[in-house]
Amino acid sequence: MNDQATNADQIAFWNAKAGSKWVEYQAQLDRQIGVLGDAMLRAAGLGAGHRVLDVGCGCGATALQAAAMVGASGTVTGVDVSAPMLARARARQGGLSQVQFVEADVQADALGAALYDRVISRFGVMFFTDPVAAFRNVRAAMAPKGRLAFVCWRGADENPWMSEPVKAAARHVELPPAPPADAPGPMSFADPERVRRILNAAGLAAIEIVKHDAPCVIGGGGDLDTCVDFLFNVGPLSRALMSADFNEQSKAAIRASVCDVLRPYLTPTGVVMPCAVWIVTASNA
Ligand SMILES: C[S@@+](CC[C@H](N)C(=O)[O-])C[C@H]1O[C@@H](n2cnc3c(N)ncnc32)[C@H](O)[C@@H]1O
Repeated sequence: MNDQATNADQIAFWNAKAGSKWVEYQAQLDRQIGVLGDAMLRAAGLGAGHRVLDVGCGCGATALQAAAMVGASGTVTGVDVSAPMLARARARQGGLSQVQFVEADVQADALGAALYDRVISRFGVMFFTDPVAAFRNVRAAMAPKGRLAFVCWRGADENPWMSEPVKAAARHVELPPAPPADAPGPMSFADPERVRRILNAAGLAAIEIVKHDAPCVIGGGGDLDTCVDFLFNVGPLSRALMSADFNEQSKAAIRASVCDVLRPYLTPTGVVMPCAVWIVTASNA
């Protein structure tokens, strides 16, 4: 299997603007979504000696956490399509020799056969053009009775840190329409029935999709301006603005309106907003 053309747009996206922004804001992103990754790791049930695959591992945070959990007798393989994010992951690896980071497309490239006791992912599974093929590939790489755990976003309407800044910007500039619900992207697993259909079709069993809500520090902390800078660079607002046509004047108006919607959430630790995710687990029957 090596049909990278199918994910070409996502591969280009994560190797260009998105990849460099996720590297630049790695520490802030890890602080924002760390608690959500922690919930996923608890559901994964990692133990000493496990062989772990981290799908869409990005800059490596959950792979490195998993390495500490499986210890020196275990292994962790982080897989991602983004060369700049993998470079950051390797730079953070230190002396953890049980971890390796591999550049590969989880949908199209061979991941090995029956190798992994655990497969984990923090927001790394929503970008496949053919999710059933991707999860079939993942299942083939899982050991018998292997366990999969991932965290993905629920709807934007339940995640005001995503929806409110975009609505505020839309008052000043024409934004592109939201992509179709099942298009590869951060919201493509918001519908739990779609997730269940995909995992079923890929041959996974014991599928559980559990609501998880947690307050998160948007942009990892700081004042309103810091948070707005973050949202202009990473996440749904930055994506919406990527193809929008705006000048310095409308940019200032957008900033002011985004500040207004964030202000009620400002606390001494930063802008803290509710985040709504699914924690999904399944096993290789
Ligand atoms: C939202 S980021 C999450 C990164 C990381 N898991 C984290 O939590 O910081 C999504 C990641 O999925 C990766 N990705 C997208 N499509 C992929 C594919 N087909 N195969 C492997 N990784 C992919 C991206 O390059 C990106 O690193």
